[in-house]
Amino acid sequence: MANTDVAEQVLDALGGKDNVKANDICMTRLRILTEKPGLIDLNKLRSIRGVLGTVRRGSNGVEIVFGPGSINEVSDDIVRLTGIEPSYSAFRDSSSAPEDSISVQINGHAPIPKAVRAAVAAKKPLASSHMGSPSSDEDDDASDMEELASLLEATGSADSPRLLVVNGPNINMLGVREPKIYGRKTYADLVRLCRSAAQEAGFSECRCFQSNHEGDLVDVIQAAYGEFDGIVINPAAYTHTSVALLDALKSVALPTIEVHISKVDEREDFRQISYVRAACFETIVGMGLEGYRKAIKDMAAHLREHRGAEKG
Ligand code: DQA
Repeated sequence: MANTDVAEQVLDALGGKDNVKANDICMTRLRILTEKPGLIDLNKLRSIRGVLGTVRRGSNGVEIVFGPGSINEVSDDIVRLTGIEPSYSAFRDSSSAPEDSISVQINGHAPIPKAVRAAVAAKKPLASSHMGSPSSDEDDDASDMEELASLLEATGSADSPRLLVVNGPNINMLGVREPKIYGRKTYADLVRLCRSAAQEAGFSECRCFQSNHEGDLVDVIQAAYGEFDGIVINPAAYTHTSVALLDALKSVALPTIEVHISKVDEREDFRQISYVRAACFETIVGMGLEGYRKAIKDMAAHLREHRGAEKG
């Protein structure tokens, strides 16, 4: 079945394209916010080929879990058919994210809650106490979570590492900004590249975050503690000024790779200092956006070695 057919069926099960308010994707999930949640037909969604399951999100959203490989094309088709670009910010609203998700504070990408991942990793059934006191909504959530847990177990993704990609100021202006230095590709292209590289490298999740504000970047790094296994960071101009970012990276002590799109080492003197470098085990410069792909591959290899060393 062509992915366009899948996207059309998804939209049909969501009550039509006019019912879609916002969309976003992560590694294996398509996130949708709807105008009228009552129009979502979960059974219809679950019967679509390639859909592994669904998880309700807040009062008006749903996550549709796809098998590895198909999600990017389906998402592109959804974007084309609805005319709505993927958006992180639409998912910031707390009503669309579970309370135990620390990433809600960051960019609305709620990860699989720790309780679920811990239960899956420990091969324990999920106790309903993980989900709070029972109510019909929470019962639904509990069974969605159980379903997700078994999907994770079935696909082996419960154990796979999770990657955070952080970009600093003006990286959102890629494509417009000094194209001779940074190229013509946009930030959206960069996010797509990172997601597909991360999927190929075996990460179960790739969260991409960009901010022009130093404090936001500190917050996202702090919130990565216990939630992500590695960080790929291009702090952009804050590379050369920010002790706060260095301290944040040192605080969480996650394996980190520094990336720069341009050849910073051949540019102005003030770009020769990198504060964050002291917290990174590798630095990649001058490879354009492909530098992120290399960073993601290298991070995966590093984590494999590290885990191998822990086990052996
Ligand atoms: C950059 C290099 C920095 O010096 C600059 O301030 C940026 C981007 C790079 O990716 O090449 O914004 O980090």
